[in-house]
Amino acid sequence: MTTKEKVLQITNQFDVNIIFAQRLLNMTEDRLELEEISKIIEDRPKPFVKWVGGKRQLLKQFRKMDLYPPHNFDSLNSTYFEPFVGGGAVFFDLLPKKAVLSDLNRELVVTYNVIKNNIEKLIVSLKKHKYDKDHYSKVRSKNLNKLSDLEIASRFIFLNRTCFNGMYRVNSKGQFNVPFGRYNNPTICDEENLRKVSSALQDVEIIVQDYKNVLKKAKKGDFIYFDPPYYPVSKTASFTSYTKESFLDTEQIELRDTFLALHKRGCFVMLSNSDTPFINKIYKEIKKDGVNINKVKAGRAINSNGAKRGKINEVLITNY
Ligand SMILES: C[S@@+](CC[C@H](N)C(=O)[O-])C[C@H]1O[C@@H](n2cnc3c(N)ncnc32)[C@H](O)[C@@H]1O
Repeated sequence: MTTKEKVLQITNQFDVNIIFAQRLLNMTEDRLELEEISKIIEDRPKPFVKWVGGKRQLLKQFRKMDLYPPHNFDSLNSTYFEPFVGGGAVFFDLLPKKAVLSDLNRELVVTYNVIKNNIEKLIVSLKKHKYDKDHYSKVRSKNLNKLSDLEIASRFIFLNRTCFNGMYRVNSKGQFNVPFGRYNNPTICDEENLRKVSSALQDVEIIVQDYKNVLKKAKKGDFIYFDPPYYPVSKTASFTSYTKESFLDTEQIELRDTFLALHKRGCFVMLSNSDTPFINKIYKEIKKDGVNINKVKAGRAINSNGAKRGKINEVLITNY
């Protein structure tokens, strides 16, 4: 059986994507050991934070539409970039051998790196937190500039697990301002998963930077997935405060131009956004260059107000 046939058998048998299937085969040194493979799949890490806009539910649909991942991406020799990584749902789905993850949210990136480099101390620190409103207020009000990276990561995971809806929102001064959430005994320290995440990150580079820096490193044949803050469906529905910077018309056009530059370089590029007239218009302008606008029917909740939580349609822009 050729390697390609073995990869296909794994994707069919276990319902996983081709990049992860390729990695699994590589991990078992090209032997098609189904029992061993099934065990690795069961033990795979999952995202360690809840993140608004998480892509987990949509990935199966992208795969069914044959849009993800790109067939010709050579995941053993080329690099996967995720410049708006957030909770990293796509990274954890692909688990590629070589990856560069980045985000403008410094606390999030510090947390990824502490999980990667200092996991045991982080677990000890997380176990000291308790689910309690006064403790929450005390931790939330801490001055980030006075905390070590370990303390930043511990605070970040604790707040994410116990705040309202697992949201991340900051005020104009960049201070986290999400209220305490009501849960029934939330898991603050999922140590088993955190250790798995730590090993999955060992060869991965995780950086705080603006998405445009991807242009400095990406080479022909690399795969870039952009999941930016979405263009608002309506003025009231806007949710753009992951960071204190806004991400509106000018920023969306700059992102479109970055997409085009990477396309011209010979990278595989995929981008998610809301199915709005503005987004359709700016990507239609580069259709002639070989860029496709695919409509995705499933929706996701973006409004924190339950009553207004509507499902929205999305576009998945690809150059392959
Ligand atoms: C839609 S979310 C990504 C969701 C992610 N795919 C997931 O599965 O959780 C957008 C992310 O972009 C980050 N971000 C916003 N502006 C940015 C910029 N200019 N450069 C890099 N990251 C940025 C935010 O901090 C946020 O984590």
